[in-house]
Amino acid sequence: MIEVQNVVRRFEQQRRPVLNGLDFKLERGSFAFLTGASGSGKSTLLRLMYGADYPDEGKVTVAGHDLHRGEPRALAMIRRRVAVIFQDFRLLRERSALENVRLVLELRGVDRRLAHRRAMEALDDVGIGAFAKRPVPQLSGGEQQRVAIARALVGDPQVLLCDEPTGNLDEELSMQVLGLIDLASSRGATVLVATHDTEILRRFPHPTFHLSEGKLERRG
Ligand SMILES: Nc1ncnc2c1ncn2[C@@H]1O[C@H](COP(=O)(O)OP(=O)(O)O)[C@@H](O)[C@H]1O
Ligand SMILES: [Mg+2]
Repeated sequence: MIEVQNVVRRFEQQRRPVLNGLDFKLERGSFAFLTGASGSGKSTLLRLMYGADYPDEGKVTVAGHDLHRGEPRALAMIRRRVAVIFQDFRLLRERSALENVRLVLELRGVDRRLAHRRAMEALDDVGIGAFAKRPVPQLSGGEQQRVAIARALVGDPQVLLCDEPTGNLDEELSMQVLGLIDLASSRGATVLVATHDTEILRRFPHPTFHLSEGKLERRG
């Protein structure tokens, strides 16, 4: 489902490439963690997987599409099949929870009433249906991350990429958020979660890939 082959990504100011010949493969429906010190390149690697950046060398394939060139077809596929969850939620702050979730479907041309219904269901699934009408700034961090998860899952993604999704949450909320991400996985999504939360790694026994000095090493 996700395949990274011999990928090199270097930034000008740096002596060594951030990603220095990476190989990585995640089968359809599997769940893995991505660990590594701050600055080791986790976000950089994830960005290559959702088409926000391209490798200098090598190849990134997601859901059968080669992403190393900015071809519009690959980007359209990503918008449809790949969902991303960020540490800082990245919701539209001037919109309600419901509008944030519904917009994903409306942008795909889903009929307004159906989009409304499915967005409500997605918010109910993550336990915040009661807050649907609230503007984002009136939601707590944990509630905002649930909205972001609902937004990620409403379109039934094939791939779910999470970049330190619990970085701004306390331990109890972190476990709940991981539980919801696990749920997405049980519905068939291929999931990759960048984290350095050791409690999460302990409680959710999925394979872990560790990024260090530009290389990726499987642990556990
Ligand atoms: N667009 C960019 N331009 C220059 N350097 C970058 C850019 N993006 C990331 N970097 C550098 O690449 C390294 C890895 O960053 P990042 O992928 O954000 O690490 P992580 O997510 O593991 O903390 C850092 O040294 C960072 O400064
Ligand atoms: Mg990062």
